[in-house]
Amino acid sequence: MKTKTLLLVTAAMLLVGTSTLRAADVAENWTKHCGSCHGADGKARTKAGRMAGAKDLTDAAYQKQFTDEQILQRLMDGVTDKGKEKMKPFKAVLSDDELKALVAKVRTFAK
Ligand code: HEC
Repeated sequence: MKTKTLLLVTAAMLLVGTSTLRAADVAENWTKHCGSCHGADGKARTKAGRMAGAKDLTDAAYQKQFTDEQILQRLMDGVTDKGKEKMKPFKAVLSDDELKALVAKVRTFAK
């Protein structure tokens, strides 16, 4: 009986551990792959962001211009303008799940 309780407690702790780990991953990925242009706050007030022409992701009106699917698509394939790369494709760098988590993170900026 005691062992069973212990097992349950351990399992619960593992579950909690995994979910916090996942959350940290999104934040880490944002800092590592996106923050240089879009900034920690999503406002793109960084040198690289200005140079690339990234826009303010905290602007709800701007965020209404694209669906989650469109964000995902652009993260996978990148954004080019007149043959010039504005945002590089991330499909080779990040997994589908990581990209989807980043789409969700993007949405949190405009709430
Ligand atoms: C080299 C700078 C740069 C990096 C790094 C970068 N972006 Fe972007 N991103 C841009 C630019 C520039 C645009 C604006 C494209 C446009 O609308 O003209 C953009 C647009 C976007 C948009 C607007 C949606 C859309 O469909 O246009 C989202 C959301 C976004 N980026 C998320 C991300 C995420 C998430 C990452 C990290 C995985 C990332 N970006 C990394 C430069 C960057």
